[in-house]
Formats: sequence, C-alpha cells, structure tokens
Amino acid sequence: MPAQPAFEKILAEASSRLGAASRLAEVEELRIRYLGRKGVLTEALRSLKTLPPAQRRAAGQAGNAAKQALEGQLFAAAARFTTPQPVRSVDVTVPLHDHQPGHLHPISLVLAELEEIFGSLGFSVVEGPEVEDAWHNFEALNMGSDHPARDMQDTFYVKGSDRPKGEFRILPRTHTSGVQIRTMETEEPPLRIIVPGRVYRNEAEDATHGAVFHQLEGLMVDQATSFADLKGILLTMAQRLLGADTKLRFRPSFFPYTEPSAEIDMSAPNVRDGAWIELGGAGMVHPDVLERVGYDPDVFQGFAFGIGPGRLAMLKYGIQDLRELYKPDIRIMEQF
Ligand code: DAH
Repeated sequence: MPAQPAFEKILAEASSRLGAASRLAEVEELRIRYLGRKGVLTEALRSLKTLPPAQRRAAGQAGNAAKQALEGQLFAAAARFTTPQPVRSVDVTVPLHDHQPGHLHPISLVLAELEEIFGSLGFSVVEGPEVEDAWHNFEALNMGSDHPARDMQDTFYVKGSDRPKGEFRILPRTHTSGVQIRTMETEEPPLRIIVPGRVYRNEAEDATHGAVFHQLEGLMVDQATSFADLKGILLTMAQRLLGADTKLRFRPSFFPYTEPSAEIDMSAPNVRDGAWIELGGAGMVHPDVLERVGYDPDVFQGFAFGIGPGRLAMLKYGIQDLRELYKPDIRIMEQF
C-alpha cells in the first residue's frame, strides 16, 4: 500500500530553509522547489490520487493545509527583502499633454443644439416615461386597439400587463407622442414644448431604421396656431442646424392624431447631393385629441411634429448608415 506523503515533514523542512534565506532570489528558488510544477509539495499532493479512498480525504486536508501555510510563509519571507515603496503623491494640477478629451455622442450634440434652437423660439423641454401605458401611447391619440394605424407600431408589450383593460397595457413607448397627452392633461394652453427621448419598435433594422432610436416631439397649442406656423418653425430649425440653403418639403400623409397630416422631407446640398431624406411626421392636432384632454377645439388649435434626431445627425455629419450611431465603436465616434 502506498505510504501517505509526509506533509508535515515537507513543511518543516521548507520553513527552516526559508528562515535561512538571505536574498529574495533564494525565496523564489524555494518557491519553485516546493510549489513549482515539479515541486516537492506539488508532487506529494499529486500522489494523493494513488491512496485508497478511505485515506485520501484526511491526507488531502493535511496536504492543503501545508500548502496554504507554505504560501503564507513564502509571502512573509519575500516581504523581508522588499522595501515598501512610498506611495507617490499625484499632482492633480499638472497639465495633461497626451490627453484626448472625450466628447458627446453625435445624437446628444444634435439634441443639445435642437434644445437651444427651439428654446429661442419659446419651446420648453419636457420628458416623459420610456415605459408607457397604451392609453397615452395609443388610445388618447385616436388609436384604439382596433385601429389599423396601430399595426405599424404595435410592438413589444410588458408580459402580463393586459389586465384589467387594454388601455392599461404597458409597453416601451413606440413614439414620444404620448408626452403630448401627458403634458396637455396637466397644463393649460398656450403651450410650446419639445420632447426628446428614446423610443422602441419591433422594426426590421436597415440603414435608416432601428428598433431603438431617438425622437424629438414638438407641440404648440394656442389661439391662432396654423400650419404656416408649423412650416416656419421647422424651416427655422432646419436652416439653423444645417445651413441656410437647407430645404423642407411637406407631403400629404395620415396620422390618426393630426388633421391634416404631413410627412416632412429635408434636403441639404452637402449631403447625398441634396437628395430628399425623410425627417418625420407632423400635422395640426386633431380636435378629438384636444377635446379628450379638456381643451376647447373651437378656441385652441395646435400643431405637432415628431422628427428623428438620428436622421438630423446623419445629415449634419454626413453619416451614411443610422446604425453606426448606435454602435460603441470609438473609431467612428472620434470622427465627430
Ligand atoms: N409619432 C409619429 C411616429 O412616430 C411621428 C409624428 C407624426 C409625430 C405626426 C407627431 C405628428 O407629433 O403630429 O411616426
């Protein structure tokens, strides 16, 4: 029967040699001699396999205890020969030379500029929840559960949120338009707001569509607000952001919460040779929507729009593919 390894003897021998060591190199030699790949203690531990199972457990415990003790002693011995280095104090006032400062993400840059432009036109910034109920996201905007327009955005719902009624279903918001309702529910007209924020859709991604993206919603309600105001405000925004030769085009469209409704296209001469690029939707707020939040549609009118800051960033920085904006690739981000 194979003999049990003599762990205590090995440890005692190693300890006395360590005690006699006079240089750090000797401590390292002893470490290798006992705990190296072919070290005395390593081999002894390896030989435990050959013991009958009844003895293996106790011998294993003794072996591991010896190993731990030796590791501690090696550490202590090495410490005898290493002088602790004083911690160098750091002068935080020294100017940095090779230092590359970070910067904001292109979408944040565009949003900051938009907030400034709209701010100068009397709009204040409002934010809403990213997890929204179906009432604010759909129903209050004339999109009941059977409305066909809802198909385009009917998307990820929070599991188990379908009770007690459809309008209480919870979902990551599909657009920022629900914040129109939230604001009008609590504020009296006149009103001028913009709502920047992230939205979520069940979308097949391509160069100009993502499943997570940003929107900038706008809403103005007053006593003589017209479609001309909408055009003037959006054109001012586009030209201040992208240059005086930027053009806008409005195409008739349909949104359940505006009447009339339009799709907005934008063209800047230095991007894609001035091709028209879709920017978002807009229109005059539907009287039913105004009535639902308690505004008198015979007294107040309003316009609303929802545009894509990602698209604006594409135009401003000449980005060809929207998806680049949502990749954490430093080589791309450094270019802005
Ligand atoms: N919510 C629409 C979308 O996500 C965009 C939009 C269209 C917003 C018309 C509006 C609007 O405020 O009036 O596609």
